[in-house]
Amino acid sequence: MQDSMNELSSFFAEAAGLTDAQLDRLVPEADGNELAAAMRWSLFAGGKRFRPAMLLAAGRVCGATDQDLISSAASVELIHTYSLIHDDLPSMDDDDLRRGRETCHKRFGEATAILAGDALQALAFQTIATDERLNADLRVTLLSELGDAAACMVKGQHLDLESEGKEVDLAELERIHRNKTGALIRFAVVAGARIADADDGKIEVAARYGEKIGLLFQIVDDILDVTQTTESLGKTAGKDETSSKAAYPKIVGLETARQLAETISREAAELAAELGDNDGVLTEAAEYLLRRQS
Ligand code: IPE
Ligand code: IPE
Ligand code: MG
Ligand code: MG
Ligand code: MG
Repeated sequence: MQDSMNELSSFFAEAAGLTDAQLDRLVPEADGNELAAAMRWSLFAGGKRFRPAMLLAAGRVCGATDQDLISSAASVELIHTYSLIHDDLPSMDDDDLRRGRETCHKRFGEATAILAGDALQALAFQTIATDERLNADLRVTLLSELGDAAACMVKGQHLDLESEGKEVDLAELERIHRNKTGALIRFAVVAGARIADADDGKIEVAARYGEKIGLLFQIVDDILDVTQTTESLGKTAGKDETSSKAAYPKIVGLETARQLAETISREAAELAAELGDNDGVLTEAAEYLLRRQS
């Protein structure tokens, strides 16, 4: 157990290092360029890089090289960071703290923050479109699927905002979470398998694994919102309650939320085994999501 936890944390550290280096190439420092500074402010603020790590892990399990995976891994993080910048805007969750520092709009103003998010999104698609390590058909498939996932995220964010202060049942809450957070994580896992040229059967298992950990990720985010401090999260704790959000602890209670999370984690671990993960990173990641504290 201890060994596998160490193995997972060294994998996360390695994946974060590879992702950061690629992001640094994609969005280089540019003196006097306020827009680039805003993009870098949010990109290099110590995010966990969970989505790129999952793309790399799924790709490796299915036999891809890191060189073939890294641009797509960075693209997923670009979309994710854009979603966080917009999520924090005054018209959305209105947050002042993100990744342990001021939110992008607090630091650079609202207009620049909106544009920094827009620019990160455009760069994500451009990065895959111009990745010469991948053949043209694969690039089109990845672009189409990334487009679908980004659209689901936007739809989920809209449903999330509409649900504020309303009675929402568990089925609707699950739908919000699958869209706003699950779809991009699912994309990350499937993209890794696609880049490895996995067969249709494997892609389907990868998709089911990605859906499980994607939903689990947001359930745990809701749990952490009520159980952790602002300091440990690097973002304002207790926000879901103060904004009257539809969130798991509110809808089903903390204990049931935890039980649901455990069940989904076990199901994800079974799918990881089906993918041939053999107690590796994908299996451990399903378990890690239950004990993460930020
Ligand atoms: C936060 O995502 C937003 C959600 C979708 C729950 P993360 O918890 O992955 O945030 P970072 O990237 O580590 O900052
Ligand atoms: C955000 O969900 C999901 C996104 C698509 C960004 P939250 O609003 O719960 O994320 P945090 O808690 O602010 O990170
Ligand atoms: Mg939100
Ligand atoms: Mg938020
Ligand atoms: Mg949250």
